[in-house]
Amino acid sequence: MGSAFFVFMGTNKVISFEISNDTLKRRAKAVTLLPLTHFFIMSQLHVIDHPMIQHKLTIMRKKSTGSKDFRELLKEISLLMGYEVTRDIPLEDIEIETPICRMTAKEVSGRKLAIVPILRAGMGMVEGLQTLVPVAKVGHIGLYRNEETHKPVVYYCKLPEDIQDRLVIVTDPMLATGGSACDALSMLKERGCTNIRLMCLVSVPEGIAKVQAEHPDVDIYVAAVDDHLNENAYIVPGLGDAGDRIFGTK
Ligand code: PRP
Ligand code: URA
Repeated sequence: MGSAFFVFMGTNKVISFEISNDTLKRRAKAVTLLPLTHFFIMSQLHVIDHPMIQHKLTIMRKKSTGSKDFRELLKEISLLMGYEVTRDIPLEDIEIETPICRMTAKEVSGRKLAIVPILRAGMGMVEGLQTLVPVAKVGHIGLYRNEETHKPVVYYCKLPEDIQDRLVIVTDPMLATGGSACDALSMLKERGCTNIRLMCLVSVPEGIAKVQAEHPDVDIYVAAVDDHLNENAYIVPGLGDAGDRIFGTK
């Protein structure tokens, strides 16, 4: 099987990764369907492929890995990915006193953060991010995929009152068709959110293309871009059903 290098360009970064010829054809088809405007505003795709993240993800993918280890690894990876997702949040100078002298030091300024997991599986990424940003507020969006249509169904939404004033990090380990992520992002925008980032663990080009087409203002952070979706819209090779593996429901 041959391969090609795919490049996503943003305002200050170029992200590239290797994908197969088949995937490239599907991706090219998706791109030709996009309106021209999407080529002017294009969200950035950040593939966070730090060796420690890749190592932990490999353990998560193994079907022999049980729920306890799966949950712990997801939490650890979320904390590590959180460094990149929050890399450019603004700082401001403050005056402090150390035991030795006064100094001008940095603290995170202005805009506050909210973490919004897509239930259920997105919950597995919250604790890692909270370790990094303990003051972040947490909202919840409940969505499940209809097993036949693979379309998302909304069953819950509870968000911080001032969500529109916050930088929102939406979490979900799996970006498959992209339907759940797109609906969650639309729900946040209906409530006035203008600064949103999407953080997933495993993705496929189909899901990335859908989010970039419908939400070109939302940057996407992933640890892996897998090959394709199977006939049940599961990610291949993927890691199976993330919700079931986190909560031990199957
Ligand atoms: C999974 C996953 C995503 C969604 C991804 O959730 O956690 O939310 O599927 O698929 P999509 O990109 O095709 O929409 P699921 O519907 O299985 O619910 P769960 O988290 O409650 O298990
Ligand atoms: N949801 C999951 O949990 N896994 C997949 O591979 C696709 C959707």
